[in-house]
Amino acid sequence: MRITRRSFLGTGLALSAASAAGSSFDPWVEIHAGNLRHNVGEIQRRVASRPILAAIKNNGYGMGVVQAARLLETQAAIAGFAVVKFEEAVRLREAGTRKPVLWMGPGDEKDFVEAAARRISPMVYTPLGPTLDKISARLGKPVPLHICVDTGIGRVGIPHTRAAGLIRDLAARKSVDIQGTMMTFTEDPPFDKEQLGRFQSLCGSLEKEGIRLGRRHAASSYALFEHPESFLDMVRPGMAICGVYPEKQFRTAGAIDLRPALSLRARVAYVKQLRKGESAGYNRAYRAQQDVWVATLPAGHADGWPRIAARGARVRIGGELYPIIASVSASHSIAEIGPEPRVQIGDTVTFFDWQDGSRPEDVAAACGSSVYDLLMHLNPLLPRRLV
Ligand SMILES: Cc1ncc(COP(=O)(O)O)c(C=O)c1O
Repeated sequence: MRITRRSFLGTGLALSAASAAGSSFDPWVEIHAGNLRHNVGEIQRRVASRPILAAIKNNGYGMGVVQAARLLETQAAIAGFAVVKFEEAVRLREAGTRKPVLWMGPGDEKDFVEAAARRISPMVYTPLGPTLDKISARLGKPVPLHICVDTGIGRVGIPHTRAAGLIRDLAARKSVDIQGTMMTFTEDPPFDKEQLGRFQSLCGSLEKEGIRLGRRHAASSYALFEHPESFLDMVRPGMAICGVYPEKQFRTAGAIDLRPALSLRARVAYVKQLRKGESAGYNRAYRAQQDVWVATLPAGHADGWPRIAARGARVRIGGELYPIIASVSASHSIAEIGPEPRVQIGDTVTFFDWQDGSRPEDVAAACGSSVYDLLMHLNPLLPRRLV
C-alpha cells in the first residue's frame, strides 16, 4: 500500500495540524510520520535487519490501526502487522493493507473461515486441525497461521510441555501453512531466560524432525532492550515503534534512540483567577492557597487523559510546563498557571508529545501511570492529524 500525504488525509480522519489548530478546541492526536520512520530504522539497526512484525493492536497504540498500517507498510523493514481484535484485522484488509496480518485474538469457526478468505493469519494453539482441513478444502488453499507456545506467561498458547504434539499434528496437514511459531515473555528477566530456553529447545527438537516452523518470534519492545538473544527470525514490537520506552531505565541505556510518534493536544478552553480559598474540581479537590490563575483544558479521561494525571502530570502551554490540579473529569482538566495570567483562551495545550519534559514517559513517571495506559486509552474518535 503506497501512502502519500494526500491519501492519508483522504481517510477522513486527519487534517493538517496547521490548518486544524485554528478551527477547534477539541482534543486531537498528532502522528509524527518522521519519528515513526526513525523508530523503525532504529529498531532495524538494533535487530541487525531482521524483519519487524509491527504490533499495532488496540487501535494502533492510539495512532488508529489503519493509519498506523498505512504509515508503516511502505517501510521495507516491516514484514507485517499483528493485532488482537478480529475486527482490527478485517479493517486492515478492507483498507487495502497488503502485507501479512497476524490476528492474535480468539475466534470461532466462522471467524477462521473469514480470516483465511482475507489472508489473515490466525494465531493457533488448540487442536484445530480438522477445522483447518475443512476451511482449506473450501478455499482450495492451505490456511496460513502462526502457532503460539506458552512458555510460562500462562495467558494463551499451548503449554510448551504439550506443544510438540500439536505442532506435529498441524505440520503434517496439507491444509496448514505454518508461517510462524511464537511465544511471549513475562518480562521477568531471569524467568525470561528460562522461557526462551524452553522455546529454543522445543523448536530445535521439532526442526531436527524436519518440521518447518516458519519464522520464530518472541521479542516485543522490552526484549529489544533486554534480550538480544531472543531476536530469532523476526521481532514483534509495538510501543518501541511508537517511539516510547517501555521502561524508564531504557531511556538512558543508549541501545535504541526512540522518538515519540504521538501527541495529544487541545486548545485552552478558559482562563480565570481563583481567589485564595476558592476551589476547583469535583469534591473541591483543589483549594487555592493564594490568588492563582488556572486554565481549563477541554480533555479528560473520556478522551484518554487519565484521572491519575491530577497526581503530578504537567502539560505544556506556550513552551512552559504547568501542573494538572484538582481532578480530571470526563471531558475537562485544570492546569495551575500561577500568580500571573500567562496563558490565553485558544492557546495550544500539549498533554504529551515528543519534547523532553512532555514525552509520554515524562507524564507517566510524574503521575505514576503507565505509558501503555496513555497511548492505548486514547479515544478512537479523536481526530488523528499527520505532521
Ligand atoms: C503477543 C504480543 N506481542 C507483541 C506485543 C507488543 O508489545 P510492546 O508494545 O511492549 O512492544 C504485545 C503487547 O502487549 C503482545 O501482547
